[in-house]
Amino acid sequence: MRVPKRILKNVQELLERLHVDGKRRSKMNEFYKIIKERRSIRKFKPDPISKEVIERIIEVGMWAPSAMNTQPWEFYVFTGEARDQIVKILSKSLQGITPRLKELFKEKMQKFTLGFFQNMGGAPVIVLALTHRLPVIQYQEGAIQSCAAAVQNLLLAAHMEGLGACWMTGPLWVEDEVLTHLGRQEDARLVAAIPIGYPDQSPPVPPRKHKTIHWM
Ligand SMILES: Cc1cc2nc3c(=O)[nH]c(=O)nc-3n(C[C@H](O)[C@H](O)[C@H](O)COP(=O)(O)O)c2cc1C
Repeated sequence: MRVPKRILKNVQELLERLHVDGKRRSKMNEFYKIIKERRSIRKFKPDPISKEVIERIIEVGMWAPSAMNTQPWEFYVFTGEARDQIVKILSKSLQGITPRLKELFKEKMQKFTLGFFQNMGGAPVIVLALTHRLPVIQYQEGAIQSCAAAVQNLLLAAHMEGLGACWMTGPLWVEDEVLTHLGRQEDARLVAAIPIGYPDQSPPVPPRKHKTIHWM
C-alpha cells in the first residue's frame, strides 16, 4: 500500500518532535543562531587576550573530526614582537592576491582589504594553523580538511568568547617563507592564518548566495 506523501511527512515530523524535546530544541536553536551570527572580523581593538582564552579556543578546535583520527593540526600563537615579525611576512601575500581582488571586488573593498593585509586589522594575536606535509595527495587533502575543521571550531569558540577572528588563506602566497620562518618547510603545510582580537567593527552579514543541495 502506498502511503500518501502528506501523511508520511506528518509522521516524520511527529517522530522528529518525539526525539527532540523542548530543552534540546532551544539549545539547538541557540546553536544555529551562534553559527549564523559569527562574522569574519578585520578590524580589532589593541586590547590583549589572556593566554587562557587562547588556549581554550584552540583546545576546542582540536575536538574536530579528522581523517583516520590522525588529528593532524598544529597551532602557532604569535603575540608582541613575534606577532609583528609574522605580520611582516604575511603582509607580503598582498602581491599575490591583488589581481584576484581586482577581479572580484569594487574599489572600496579592494582598498579596505589591502589595508587589512598590511597589519592584519591590528589584531594583537595571530594564530597559524599548520598540518602535516604528506606525499600522497589523498592523504594531504584529508589532513588539510581535518585542520580546516579545527579552524572552524576555533572560530566559533572565539566568537562565543566575544572575540573576533578571520580565517585567511591569502597568506598561502607566502607559505614557503612562513614555513622557513618556523623551520618547518620539510614536514608541514600552512592551512590558515587567523588574526584574533576584540572586534572593533560590526560588519554587515554577507548574504548566502546559493542553496546548493542536490536531492537525489
Ligand atoms: C578558506 C577561507 C579562506 C579565507 N581567506 C580569507 C583571506 O585571505 N582574507 C580575508 O579577508 N578573508 C578570508 N576569508 C573570509 C571570507 O572572506 C568570509 O568568510 C566570507 O566573506 C563570508 O563572511 P563571514 O565569514 O563573515 O560569514 C576566508 C574564508 C575561508 C573559509
